[in-house]
Amino acid sequence: MPGSHLPGPIRLTHLTLRRGGREVVRDLSGTFAAGSLTAIAGPNGAGKSTLLHTLRGLLPIASGQVDLGGVEARNIALLPQEGRLDRSFPITCRDVAALGWTGRIGLFRRIGPAHYAAAGRALEAVGLDGLGQRSIGALSAGQFQRVLFARTIVRDAPVILLDEPFSSVDAATEADLMAIVQAWHLQGRTVAIVLHDLDLIRAEFPETLVLGGESHIWGATRDVLTPATVRQARLRAQVPVARTMEAIA
Ligand SMILES: Nc1ncnc2c1ncn2[C@@H]1O[C@H](COP(=O)(O)OP(=O)(O)O)[C@@H](O)[C@H]1O
Ligand SMILES: [Mg+2]
Repeated sequence: MPGSHLPGPIRLTHLTLRRGGREVVRDLSGTFAAGSLTAIAGPNGAGKSTLLHTLRGLLPIASGQVDLGGVEARNIALLPQEGRLDRSFPITCRDVAALGWTGRIGLFRRIGPAHYAAAGRALEAVGLDGLGQRSIGALSAGQFQRVLFARTIVRDAPVILLDEPFSSVDAATEADLMAIVQAWHLQGRTVAIVLHDLDLIRAEFPETLVLGGESHIWGATRDVLTPATVRQARLRAQVPVARTMEAIA
C-alpha cells in the first residue's frame, strides 16, 4: 500500500510549459490513470524533464491545468536524471536510502533506528546488501542508481516519477530495477519513467507518452509506438533525436 493512500488519476489539460522564455511543451492534454505505468519518450529537449519537474511542483505552469488527483505535489517522488546529482558529498548508501524518510516525516524530524532498519531492507531489495556503510562516491553508476531506487522505496510515495534511470546502467542493473518498477506498479502506485529504449518500453510499459514539441502522442503503447508515429515524431522534432528513436524509424 503506497504511503497512506492510493493515487487518483493525474489529468493534464492544455498544458503549456515554458523554459528560459521559450515554450518547450505546448498544449499537452491527457491522463496518467491511477496506478498506470507510463513510459515518456521523445527527442532531447522535448521537455520530458521539464514535465516531471512540473508535476512535482518544482516548475511553474505557463498555461493550462494539472490535476494531481488528490496527491500533493510534495508527496510525489521524483528521481532526477543522474548527471544532475552531486556525488562528491561524503555520505553512505544507508544514509542516502534513509533520506527517503525526510519526504515522509519532514526534514527536521530525527531519523531513528526503525528508519535506518527500513533503509537497510530497501538496500537489500535493490541488491546492495552489505554496502550500507559504503560512501556513494565509491559506487559504480549502476550501484548508485540502485541506492536511489532504495531511497525511493523508503519514500513509499503514491506517485513515482523517474527521469532516465537506466541511461548509464548495465543490463543486469536495468533488469533488477525494472522488477522494482513492476512491483511498484502492482502495488497500485502511479509510475511514469522517461526512457529511450523502445524495446524495453514495448516489453514492460502498458502506456506511452511521446513528447514532441507541438504534437504529442499518448495512449496504449501498442497504438503509440507504431513505425509511422515514431517517424512522424522524429520529423516534427527540431532537435536531434535519441539514438534508439532513430534506429527503428
Ligand atoms: N534550467 C533551464 N533553464 C532554461 N532552459 C532550460 C533549462 N533546462 C532545460 N531548458 C531547456 O528546456 C527545454 C526542455 O528541456 P528538458 O525538459 O530538459 O528536455 P528533455 O528532458 O526532454 O531532454 C530544452 O530546450 C532545454 O534547453
Ligand atoms: Mg531530460
